[in-house]
Amino acid sequence: MEILFATSNKNKFNEAAQMLKAEGIDLKQYSFSYNEIRSDSLEEIARDAITAAYKRCKLPVFVEDSGLFIESLSGFPGAYSSWALNKIGLDGILKLMEGKDNRSAYFEACIAYRDGYDVVTFRGKCPGRISEEARGEDGFGYDSIFIPEGEHQTFAESIELKNKLSHRYKSLLEFSKSLNSRR
Ligand code: IMP
Repeated sequence: MEILFATSNKNKFNEAAQMLKAEGIDLKQYSFSYNEIRSDSLEEIARDAITAAYKRCKLPVFVEDSGLFIESLSGFPGAYSSWALNKIGLDGILKLMEGKDNRSAYFEACIAYRDGYDVVTFRGKCPGRISEEARGEDGFGYDSIFIPEGEHQTFAESIELKNKLSHRYKSLLEFSKSLNSRR
């Protein structure tokens, strides 16, 4: 089974392609950029994006919106993670965390899939904490400051860890179960 992933983020695409291959699904990247709506809700953003993507490609396609939610910052950057990374970067986030005892955070991903008729969504969440400093060279985005629950390494220090615990992996697993059950 081949399916389109509408994204301009090569890192996201590569992670998803590797994960779905193991479930018997081949991914093809549909390079797609559009002006994302502003919303606090990943699902609302993903639903808007899938409408735009499907309108253009008119084939079964999915999008994924994700964010990092930090408890002591009332969920910031959350659905504004892309904007925050561009504006203040990892250093800015670490600065906001100075003096905070509570470093709990989670990543969340929301996939929206349209097969031609309906839109269905799948979510995945990965709890963890924000490291004291950026560590590791792999991954992308916030990976070097995120340590998954029960572990010591950041996602950027251990991609193996990321591939089995991440928000993306969990949402893709739900998605692939649904796709495989319809075959
Ligand atoms: P979006 O889903 O493309 O809007 O991504 C939101 C922001 O979160 C971007 O700055 C991404 O780089 C970052 N991001 C998304 N997924 C991950 C991830 O798996 N690890 C680290 N950062 C991520």
